[in-house]
Amino acid sequence: MECSSSEELKQLVKEAKKQTKFGKVADYIPALKKSSPHDLSVAIYYPDGICISAGDIEQKITLQSISKVLTLALALMDCGEECVFNKVGYEPTGDPYNSIIKLETSHAKPLNPMINAGALAVTHLIKGASVKERLGRIIEFIRELAGDKEISYSAEVAQSEFETSHLNRSLCYFMKQDGIIEEDVEDLLELYTKQCAIEMNCLDLARIGLIFAMDGRDSVTGKAIMPVHVARLCKTFMVTCGMYNASGEFAVRVGIPAKSGVSGGIMGSVPNRFGIGIFGPALDKRGNSIGGIRLLEMMSERYKLSIF
Ligand code: DON
Repeated sequence: MECSSSEELKQLVKEAKKQTKFGKVADYIPALKKSSPHDLSVAIYYPDGICISAGDIEQKITLQSISKVLTLALALMDCGEECVFNKVGYEPTGDPYNSIIKLETSHAKPLNPMINAGALAVTHLIKGASVKERLGRIIEFIRELAGDKEISYSAEVAQSEFETSHLNRSLCYFMKQDGIIEEDVEDLLELYTKQCAIEMNCLDLARIGLIFAMDGRDSVTGKAIMPVHVARLCKTFMVTCGMYNASGEFAVRVGIPAKSGVSGGIMGSVPNRFGIGIFGPALDKRGNSIGGIRLLEMMSERYKLSIF
């Protein structure tokens, strides 16, 4: 798929890049430290298959938390709403994405599927006889979302996170104590870190964002990839919790369903209009791409994107 470079987007990227000096690349996953803090790129994918971009959109990034939206969709298709919301709640936390504090007061049931605890509980629900089979199903689903593209994960990033995931291990043990998680914690962490290390470029991210924007339908091929209610539910969580404890401010300033990851990726879905993929590894203090957020603010203003 070719993506034509857009002068207008280039100008916006140039302006938004000024923010990158105020951010920092994630370092708690050692392998992510290698990213260049001043990179910033964007792709927009339209329902008719046209794509426009600015910056180096071929660069591969790991999905990290963006994968949480995709496993939520798969878990909803695997076991249904009642089963998923038996394990996680519907509410934003106002806390950082890796916080453990609310698990104690919520009887270990994570408040929503976008924080780490909630995503671990959702990944726990992905069906399959082994970690390998479950990972294969996640990758296969993402391959379908990305338009039949070959998808794989970075073994280096997965291993680097697996070895240093002490906080995520604690979240799992806390949830295991109260029966939210029933499997072996090391197995779940292996699956989760590999899921977070799945790689793609901005263009693929924009294409997947478009599928959510079009209520689960691949508008390029006409194929329904997920039921409408699943796509809508995922978009709702993107609005209320997709930017963690910055989701309220993001809703005011940008106003679109979006999901960030600590690798610096952001996937955006502008309902019935287009999908957005952004990569800018310098993060703000809440773990969202600092240049990416600025870019989305400018795009929202310029193209009247807010759904509110
Ligand atoms: O579990 C973690 O900490 C990472 N694999 C994902 C966290 C993340 O991407 C938060 N995003 N802004």
